[in-house]
Amino acid sequence: MNKSFYVTTPIYYVNDRPHIGHAYSTVAADVLARYARLRGRPTRFLTGTDEHGQKIEDRAKELGKDPQAFVDEMSPPFRQAFEELDCSFDDYIRTTEPRHERKVADLWKILEARGDIYLGSYEGWYAVADEAYITELEYRDMSDEEKAKRKVERKQEESYFFRLSKYTQPLLDFYEKNPTFVQPEGRFNEVKAFVREGLQDLSISRTSFRWGIPVPGNDAHVIYVWLDALTNYISALGGPAAPGESELFDRFWAPNAEVVHIVGKDILRFHAVYWPAFLLSAGIAPPTQIWAHGWLTINGEKMSKRSGNFIPPGPLVEAFGADVLRYYLMREVGFGQDGDFAHRNLLARYNGELANGLGNLLNRMVRSIVRRSFGGLVPTPANREPEDEALIAAAQKAAQESARHLDAIAPHRSLDAVWELVAAANRYVDQTAPWALAKEGKTERLGQVAYTVLESLRWLSVLIAPFMPAKSVALRAQLGLGPLEPEEGRDAWPAAWGELTPGTPTAPGEPLFPRIDAKQEKALLARLGVGTAGAAAPGAPAKKSKQKSTNEPPKEGTIPFDRFLDVELKVGLILAAEAVPKSDKLVKLSVDLGEPGPRQILAGIRPHYAPEALVGQRVVVVANLAPRKIMGLTSEGMVLAASDTEHGLSVLSLDKAIAPGTRVS
Ligand code: MSP
Repeated sequence: MNKSFYVTTPIYYVNDRPHIGHAYSTVAADVLARYARLRGRPTRFLTGTDEHGQKIEDRAKELGKDPQAFVDEMSPPFRQAFEELDCSFDDYIRTTEPRHERKVADLWKILEARGDIYLGSYEGWYAVADEAYITELEYRDMSDEEKAKRKVERKQEESYFFRLSKYTQPLLDFYEKNPTFVQPEGRFNEVKAFVREGLQDLSISRTSFRWGIPVPGNDAHVIYVWLDALTNYISALGGPAAPGESELFDRFWAPNAEVVHIVGKDILRFHAVYWPAFLLSAGIAPPTQIWAHGWLTINGEKMSKRSGNFIPPGPLVEAFGADVLRYYLMREVGFGQDGDFAHRNLLARYNGELANGLGNLLNRMVRSIVRRSFGGLVPTPANREPEDEALIAAAQKAAQESARHLDAIAPHRSLDAVWELVAAANRYVDQTAPWALAKEGKTERLGQVAYTVLESLRWLSVLIAPFMPAKSVALRAQLGLGPLEPEEGRDAWPAAWGELTPGTPTAPGEPLFPRIDAKQEKALLARLGVGTAGAAAPGAPAKKSKQKSTNEPPKEGTIPFDRFLDVELKVGLILAAEAVPKSDKLVKLSVDLGEPGPRQILAGIRPHYAPEALVGQRVVVVANLAPRKIMGLTSEGMVLAASDTEHGLSVLSLDKAIAPGTRVS
C-alpha cells in the first residue's frame, strides 16, 4: 500500500511537564511513522502543544506570568523530551503560532458560512480541568472530590454554538460507511451509543477569559479550546485549503492520504464525534482512523504528582537509553488496553529479552564464532539442512507477522512476532552447537550455520528499526552494514533471504545491551527513586500496599529481599562435560551463560551423572561467585544441586528452553 501516511499525536497541554503518558502516545506514533517510511510510503508525523484555554491562563496567573511567556517556557520541554526519545516528527505545532491561529479563524468562517454557527446563551456545569461543559447527569454522578479535582463550576455565558445536533445522522452514516474509523472496536461501540442518544449543539466560544483565538468579527469571544486544538491536525498542513493551495494538505490529508490520529481513551469523544462533525460541516474529509490507546499506571498506581510517582521520561532515557524505554513502552502493554509501567518489569525485559535474547545472539555469533573461525568475515553459505530451512521460515514468518500487526496498529503484537524469531535463532544456535562444529573442524557446516544466524540478525535489524532505531544502526554496524535509509517508493521490509554478502567484514563492538547485574540494578532503581518493592519514590507517602512488609526490618532468621538479589542465579546451558582426570568426583563443564564465551565450571557430581548425560541440560548456576581453583583448574561458578541418601544427588534443571543467562528469581 503506497498511499501517503499522516500520523499525529494529541497536542499536549503545557500546564504540565512531559511525563511517561505523553511519551507513550508520541512513541507509538513514531513507531508507526518509522514503519511507514521503511515501507516506502510518503509519510508525515506531527506532534506539538496545546497552549490556549482557561487552564493555561489560570496557571500562568497563579505563577504571576504573562500567558504567552508562560507557554513559551513550557512548550520546549515537550519538544526536547520527544527529541530525547528519538521521535522523528516532521513538524511540531504550537497553537499560539500565527500559522495555526489564522487557519482556526478560517475554519470558523467556513462553518459560519455553512450556517452551522449561531449566537446563543449557555448555562451549565463547566469542568475547568477538562475545558468542557459536563451534562447535568454527569454532574449528579460525580463525587465531591471529583468535582473539586476537575474544578467544576456553574457558568452562564453568551456563547456561539455549533449545530452539532444536525450531524447526529450524518455521523452515524459516516460510522456505518467507515467501520474501522475508531479503534479498538469496543471503544467505537461506546462512541456510536453516545451519538445514537442524539447530539446537542456545542458551545464553541467563551467570554469568561481571554487566552484564546478571538472569534472572527466578535473579539469579546475567544474560540473554544477544543475547536482550536483539533484544527492543529490540518493547520499544520496549511489547511483548510482549496485543492492546489497547499501541497502538504493535498498530499497528506484524507482522502488522498491515510490519516491516523493516535489519542488517549480520555479524549476519544472530541476526536471521534466533534472533529468529524466540524469537518463534515466544512466539506473536508474526516481522518481515516482514530486510535484510542489505554492509560498507564506506574508501579501499579495512578500517576500523580501528589503520590510522588510522576514519571518524566528524561531520567529513564538517561538510565536505559531511548530505545530501551521505547521498546518497553510498546512491549509491555497491549495497545488499546490500560497497562502498568513497572520499573522491575522494565529491568526484567531488558535482561531477559534484550540482553539475553537479541544481544546474546549477536554476541555469540559475531564476537565469538565469526571472529574466531572466519577471521571476522561473513562466511559463505553452504547446503541447507532442515534446521536451517526452519530458521529461514521463522524469519519469513516474523517479517510478515510483524508487518501485519503494525499495519493493524498493534505494536505489542508486532514485537511478539519479532521476539519469536529471536528465540528461534537462539534455539537454533543451541541445536546446531557451532562451538562443537568449530572444535570438530566442520568448517563448511559452521559457515552455513553462522551465515543463517547473521542473515537472521540482518532481518532483525530491520524488524526492530521502528521501535529501536539507534539499536538497529548499532546492530547493523556490527554486521558490517550501514544504517537503513528509507526512501519513498522503496520497500525496505525484509522479504528476500540471502542479501548479506559473504566476505563482508563484521565489526564486533560493544554489547548491544550490556547485561545489568544485581548491583547495577539496585543502583539504577535507587537513582530513579524506586524502592526495592518496585513501588514509588522515597518521600512518597506510605501506601497501604501488599509490598509494605518488604520495607520492614527483617525478622531474625530472615534476610531482606535485596540480600537475596545479591546472589546472581542464572540459567546455564551445558555445552560440554568431561570427567576431570585423577578425580572420582569432579566433572568439568562448559556452560553457556549468555556471555560471549562459555564458562568453565567444576562440579562434584561424577558419581551421580555420566558426563555426556549432562550435555544440553539447562541448569541453575550461581554466576557471581568469585572464581576458585580446584585441582589446578579454575571454576567460574557453581551449579546448584540437592542430595539425600535415598536418591543421591540431583542437579537442578529447567523443564523449558529458557535462554541461557536469564536471571533465576
Ligand atoms: N490538549 C489535549 C489534547 C488535544 S488534541 C487535539 C490533551 N492534552 S493532555 O496533555 O492532557 O493529554 C495528552 C495525551 O496524553 C492524551 O492522549 C492522554 O490520554 C495522554 N496521557 C496522559 N496521561 C496518560 C497516562 N497516564 N497514560 C497514557 N496516556 C496518558 O488532552
